[in-house]
Amino acid sequence: MRLDVVTIFPEYLEPLNVSLVGKARARGVLDVHVHDLRDWTHDRHHTVDDTPYGGGPGMVMKTEPWGDALDSVLADGYERGSGEPALIVPTPSGRPFTQELAVRLSERPWLIFTPARYEGIDRRVVDEYATRMPVYEVSIGDYVLAGGEAAVLVVTEAVARLLPGVLGNAESHRDDSFAPGAMASLLEGPVHTKPPLWRGREVPDVLLSGHHGKIARWRRDEALRRTTAHRPDLIERSGPGSFDKKDREM
Ligand code: ADE
Repeated sequence: MRLDVVTIFPEYLEPLNVSLVGKARARGVLDVHVHDLRDWTHDRHHTVDDTPYGGGPGMVMKTEPWGDALDSVLADGYERGSGEPALIVPTPSGRPFTQELAVRLSERPWLIFTPARYEGIDRRVVDEYATRMPVYEVSIGDYVLAGGEAAVLVVTEAVARLLPGVLGNAESHRDDSFAPGAMASLLEGPVHTKPPLWRGREVPDVLLSGHHGKIARWRRDEALRRTTAHRPDLIERSGPGSFDKKDREM
């Protein structure tokens, strides 16, 4: 998968060199290109923003640097046969970024991110590229960041760990909170490892029992308990048919 990020803070994307994403790059699973938007400015001050039409506070990112940057990134990717691009625009007014969207994005060959600063990018830029490729305007949560770069890191990590050959154990995202499947609407429950006794605290007996049926039941009960406490909306949303008689007796 190819990733391009156009930003006025290229150094903000340095975490893409470490940990899981860094390893995916080293293995050649991810081909990451970070670009400085100011490389596509033509004035002495490398201006990327201007005052908003219609008035109001803050500044708006200008069309020309973004247009030139995206044209250049697209030309390079097409020349190298990177496949069909999709544009990912991080913005607090986007659709919520979910595991389901992470899965869909992980199936694409080429993602181009446009993290903005200030009050955002002149709308005409998104409208222009939406005629050429799918555009996903995404929000990582109901809060406002100073810029979209942190959202790029979030989306990239969620997508990269789904790529074949990135996680050591291909099964390890099967039970993720929000993963499609049996526990689709439940958060993942607690986990334990050795030693069996720590500061007087024991690992639950059932986990040491070797009884797979009982362990699965315990895990589901714990997932349900945690979801009820932290995300009752997920329980509501999944409807009464999602839980069996035993769940309802909890
Ligand atoms: N830029 C600023 N806030 C954001 C958010 N919550 N999600 C994505 N991009 C953003």
